[in-house]
Amino acid sequence: MRDLTEDNVTEAVLAKIDVTDNPRLKQILVSVITHLHAFARDVELTPDELFEAARFLTEVGKISDAKRHEFLLLSDTLGLTILVDAMQNRKPAAATESSVLGPFYRANAPEVENGDLIDRGDTGGDPTVVHGTVKDLDGTAIKGALLDIWQATQQGLYENIDAAQPDMNLRGRLRTDGNGEYKVRTVLPASYPIPDDGPAGQLLSLCNRHNMRPGHIHFIVSADGFKPVTTEVFVEGDDYLDSDAVFGVKESLVAAFVNSDSVEDAAKWGMPTPFHEMRFDFVLEPGEGDARPGFSAGSAGD
Ligand code: BEZ
Ligand code: FE
Repeated sequence: MRDLTEDNVTEAVLAKIDVTDNPRLKQILVSVITHLHAFARDVELTPDELFEAARFLTEVGKISDAKRHEFLLLSDTLGLTILVDAMQNRKPAAATESSVLGPFYRANAPEVENGDLIDRGDTGGDPTVVHGTVKDLDGTAIKGALLDIWQATQQGLYENIDAAQPDMNLRGRLRTDGNGEYKVRTVLPASYPIPDDGPAGQLLSLCNRHNMRPGHIHFIVSADGFKPVTTEVFVEGDDYLDSDAVFGVKESLVAAFVNSDSVEDAAKWGMPTPFHEMRFDFVLEPGEGDARPGFSAGSAGD
């Protein structure tokens, strides 16, 4: 293994990987090396560019800690997270589509009753009632399905990065009633920026990309005997639906947050006037699984 050339170095490195015991690790390394070498050849990578890549990844590591997951943010903004999510969640067309978990999920949100208000911080956002059903693929209501819900304020801040909000504000876990229905009172979600004070943000601006996400509410919906879904519901009409910085938007996940000043409807929902009403019906497919990828490894949340 001397006198390696640009023509035979890839083969020589792959031969070294061949003795790796773990078959999945071996498969991944073979693919990574093959693609990395092909990429270097494709762009005629220079030593300066290789050093710049190493410097960039070092910065990604330096800004990361238990709460700041810059590598995941990079993965989100390069579309890798949503690609992996899509491959992991191939499902029947009728089932609710998945989307990114994001870094702001916290486990153990307060348990709330149907109809409760989750804006415990009185954040001044437009009052909004969010309701709908959880059903199976045949349209049968799922009683006692768990909805884990979290969102940012109308100012675009999650409570865990905003000292002005009480702990666990705009978060709650509730169960569907006997008819498979859920209802929660909250505020209108608005578009907000993802963190841009690190290397992932620098890369966005080098590519003339913004760091905005369209307004959305996150949901993890689960029930015994069904595959849980981690998803988001987006505000119809939001300016950033077609340019989400993390590529999370799917047409089936866009919903109208209808503005109403009907006193009768407000009374029906226990809302003040005016208010917004958003209906979203979830459909779960049979199965099982973990709806929070990487969560057990401590890559997101608390
Ligand atoms: C979020 O929606 O909370 C989010 C998702 C990906 C990256 C940053 C934020
Ligand atoms: Fe979010």
